[in-house]
Amino acid sequence: MKRILGLVCASALCVLMVGCAAGGNGTVALPDTHDAQTVLTDTVGSSVLPEKKTVFESAAPQAAAPAAEGAETSSSPSVNDDYISPLVTLRADPYLYKHEGRYYFTGSYPEYDRIELTTADSVNGIAAAVPKEIWHMDASFGQKYVWAPELHYVMGQWVIYFAYSQTGLWDIRCCALRCTGDDPMHDEWEYMGVMKKAVGDSFSFSSGMSLDMTVFENNGKWYAIWAQKPSASNLYLAELADPFTLATEPILLTQPEYSWEMVRERVNEGPAVLKHAGKIFVSFSAAATGFEYCMGLLEIDACDDPMVIENWTKYPEPVFQTDESLKIYGPGHNCFVEGDNGEPLCILHFRDYKDITGDSLLDFNRHAHVMKITFDKDGTPQFRIDPEDLYNSQFTDHNK
Ligand code: AHR
Repeated sequence: MKRILGLVCASALCVLMVGCAAGGNGTVALPDTHDAQTVLTDTVGSSVLPEKKTVFESAAPQAAAPAAEGAETSSSPSVNDDYISPLVTLRADPYLYKHEGRYYFTGSYPEYDRIELTTADSVNGIAAAVPKEIWHMDASFGQKYVWAPELHYVMGQWVIYFAYSQTGLWDIRCCALRCTGDDPMHDEWEYMGVMKKAVGDSFSFSSGMSLDMTVFENNGKWYAIWAQKPSASNLYLAELADPFTLATEPILLTQPEYSWEMVRERVNEGPAVLKHAGKIFVSFSAAATGFEYCMGLLEIDACDDPMVIENWTKYPEPVFQTDESLKIYGPGHNCFVEGDNGEPLCILHFRDYKDITGDSLLDFNRHAHVMKITFDKDGTPQFRIDPEDLYNSQFTDHNK
């Protein structure tokens, strides 16, 4: 794993896949519409990948790159440039997915016992839409651990990945639901159980908790990234054979090593994938889930093999963290999605106060917010929220 020296001040965007032809020709392969989640529109300035960065100056934020000609944009005009903040209250680990112009939202329900989906034709529409419960854990189990659901369209089917346990905290595993039809809001969902490992793999989803799975496609292959706690909570990466089965043994992608990753707990979790100008970025969350929670970042050239750890670079500093001046406490567990205008958005959670009494996981005031993202001059991700984009609405009471 390479390291990027110097302070990182960054934001990130998914973009169209960039042709990985040797020497690069700047040809941009339009994504399959199902991949809109990890592929947003952008004009690739050059197919020649930038030199590996060593020092990052924080540049003045640039406007989000214009949509590449002909790239997928939302079906309806932008509702407005100001996104409601918070977008959804009391939904930690928010996940917003865009598919053929329509948005689908989910996140950790405060009781940790069910999965809801909300749909709308605009980002702000999610704030007012009524959620629909699409799955409920077996109530006969005393423990309630249904965490961080994510909706994906994988290899031609709708899948929800989530963490679940029927017996207790240490039995939490990466599990999946499969939609029996093409309409995630109206067709039935089938519980597929714990993710299956590849032949010869005795580690994945076995020793210790596993949680926070996300998936992404690159150069025709699908990959899964998840957190697993043999001791600390580390991130692992493996190729997928099908939406519910690993094709390879995993590699250790990142583990807590810097002080900011080990405050109260040694944690890397909540991975989210972005693509920009021929690179793949993986954001992740670190430390315990109080105000110390913050976001880190990894990167790789999209032409390189993700299963070779030497191809990855880890940023030495958090890319987003508590900002008391903005009343942003414990930001993290984000995802990335194309906004109403095709612009890049980061959906993340944070609280608006610092001090928590009791178990932070039982403090349900981690609300879902929208962050507009831009790039540094060398196309490096940059995470920041402008004050005027914050707390601009009465909290809409979403079911609780
Ligand atoms: O919010 C529940 C769990 O808490 C999430 O799965 C994880 O990212 C966090 O630690």
